[in-house]
Amino acid sequence: MTANKRIVLSSDHAAIELRQTVAAHITALGWEAVDIGPTTPESTHYPKHGAAAAERVASSDCALGIILCGTGQGIMMAANKVKGIRCGVCTDTFSARMIRQHNDANMLSIGVRVVGEGLALDIVDAFLNADFEGDRHALRVDMIKELES
Ligand code: RB5
Repeated sequence: MTANKRIVLSSDHAAIELRQTVAAHITALGWEAVDIGPTTPESTHYPKHGAAAAERVASSDCALGIILCGTGQGIMMAANKVKGIRCGVCTDTFSARMIRQHNDANMLSIGVRVVGEGLALDIVDAFLNADFEGDRHALRVDMIKELES
């Protein structure tokens, strides 16, 4: 894993509370949580929050990103439109580990209306504790990158 310990967090209105819980959790683990909000509960639009977090990762300001919305799906779709971002929605710890090991995912998306807090934190742990394995997987990730150009 990189020496950059900064993880950007964002969400829409649906997932503010879980996002703040995740931020406290990763801070306790020694990461620097860069929580870019929102902080107030008015209805907002997940694409702008997904894109804002993705830009922090794409620019290398943050090493990784964790984003949340109701399903995790919409905000993931927005983040993946930013060049250099590989974000997966995870509802289980196996997938959270594998998107790091095989897909070199740099962002994780979670749906607050899909998983409970305990599982969400386990998913975060699985994601953060895994590293990209390279080798044959690097070739495939390079093929994803080629699709961006
Ligand atoms: C907001 O109601 C909801 O649509 C959003 O949080 C998310 O689930 C979209 O993918």
